[in-house]
Amino acid sequence: LSSVAPIGVFDSGVGGLTVLRALRARLPHESFLYLGDTARLPYGTKSSATVTRYARQAAQVLVDRGIKLLVIACNTASAVAVEDLAQRLHPLPVVGVVEPGAAAACAASVHGRIVVIGTESTIRGGAYERAIARRRPAAAVVGRACPLFVALAEEGWCEGPIPEAVAERYLGDLRPDPDDPASIDCLVLGCTHFPVLRPALAAVMGPEVSLVDSAETTARAVAGMLADAGLARTAPAQPGHPPGAAGSPAAVTLLATDGPERFARVGSRFLGLPLEPGVVSLVDL
Ligand code: DGL
Repeated sequence: LSSVAPIGVFDSGVGGLTVLRALRARLPHESFLYLGDTARLPYGTKSSATVTRYARQAAQVLVDRGIKLLVIACNTASAVAVEDLAQRLHPLPVVGVVEPGAAAACAASVHGRIVVIGTESTIRGGAYERAIARRRPAAAVVGRACPLFVALAEEGWCEGPIPEAVAERYLGDLRPDPDDPASIDCLVLGCTHFPVLRPALAAVMGPEVSLVDSAETTARAVAGMLADAGLARTAPAQPGHPPGAAGSPAAVTLLATDGPERFARVGSRFLGLPLEPGVVSLVDL
């Protein structure tokens, strides 16, 4: 493993770009290779066996291109396949988003009343409940699948009456009651598509609930692992381009398994950078 190699990141689609955004901000000297498996999105409605197979194939594309660390920027794939991938790819360091998301929730929740939202697969498997219970055994955790949020996020309907009506339908009964001390105080966005829906989620849940996602804590975990392994890059990836400069995705290579133009169009909102239509390359798994 070489420190100048890129960090590999994959998701079922554009959602993982919310994690890539945090990675770029924290690690401005690194270069990144991102794969969105858009041909097979959504992962969240599929069986664990299928998600594991897809995750292995997506990871292999990145490994074959010589990455130094793998980030599974998809909660669904992290929840079912992080151990499988870590074992298969050893000694390559592998980081999922569930453990960092659980750590963020435990840090943010005052009373330990936590709701986790994610895809059907993530919620069915209970990975967040287990990860939170390991850190904070007294916490009360409720999981709720919100699969329609994935489509709303991809469509860019992130605020206003439509996403708020959907959020109300999924989560309205969980809004805190000021007279109930057992009310929730933390909502974990356990799907990498969901951070773009923060405005609608905040409007529905109210100011007493902190909204937490995995991006920051995942970036911190990656920085720590690179430092520990002696794999951190100390010089800019592309001299001449200020690393992390707005509008310059110089140190990012983007791959998708279908619809590269759509990926660029929709993805710029998730990455927080404008993406030219030609910047995403098509790959097959
Ligand atoms: N971004 C994926 C996740 O974090 C969800 C999208 C999908 O269902 O593929 O779970």
